[in-house]
Amino acid sequence: MITVRAPATSANLGSGFDVFGVALDRPADVVRVEKADRTTIDVTGYGAEYIPEDPAGNTVGAVADALDAPAHIHIDKGVRPSSGLGSSAASAAAAAVALNELYDRGLSRKELVPIAGEGEAVVSGEAHVDNVAPALLGGFTIAADTEVTAVDADVPLVACLPEIAVSTRDARQVVPERTSMEDVVHTIGRAATLTAGMCWSDPRLVGEGMHDTVVTPARADLITGYELVREAALDAGATGVTVSGAGPAILAACDAEDRKRIAAAMVRAFADADVQARAYQTEIGRGVTLY
Ligand code: HSE
Repeated sequence: MITVRAPATSANLGSGFDVFGVALDRPADVVRVEKADRTTIDVTGYGAEYIPEDPAGNTVGAVADALDAPAHIHIDKGVRPSSGLGSSAASAAAAAVALNELYDRGLSRKELVPIAGEGEAVVSGEAHVDNVAPALLGGFTIAADTEVTAVDADVPLVACLPEIAVSTRDARQVVPERTSMEDVVHTIGRAATLTAGMCWSDPRLVGEGMHDTVVTPARADLITGYELVREAALDAGATGVTVSGAGPAILAACDAEDRKRIAAAMVRAFADADVQARAYQTEIGRGVTLY
């Protein structure tokens, strides 16, 4: 039997749509696997009632198939489904690491990225890896077409999760199909700034680099109270604010001494929009860990 802890992640970071991701120190899923003749799944924890236990419809079922590693898989959810905090990626990455150990497949964390990505395809229809890469590798990750790069970074963050659900499929439908050269140049500049900020663990550069004129404005409309929460976080000292993944969670970068105040301001601003929310005061964390 193998038990692992898999972190929540935040993809995109504004300017890095489908490319950037970070592992968060909290929340996390805990996944336990035991060898079996066929794969079975049971799920407990935060939002478990929304997660199918049929292996054909569950992200970890696809991972077990890809590794040819049938098992009984118990998932204890700490990362709420449809949160924008990489819920399915946490389970997929956890299953990939745990089953790789259980069946002694000998694959590296990088080799597990496309396998966990298969699990993502089950829920979003596409095998994008910008959540599974940080869930497996930890730190800040750049999932480009040909290469996945991970960088350790130390940047304080707040992830504020409202009690509303946004499906990744819906959030992908509002992404504009085309954009202007002006937006391309803006995005390259911000993405490069954010990358430098991560390499230097500089919250100001990371916050500046989160600004995005293409995907985030379209998705903000799906999140009740987004503008109020963004302004409240910036007023409380955040260096940058954006939609976390496909939403509805909102991610703020900041200096450590402002984190508590920003978390409270974001929750209050959601309440002003009649939405209950919880805030995770977190930082960039490690990838899946074995117990
Ligand atoms: N990059 C993806 C998106 C992450 O924003 O649609 C969602 O899981």
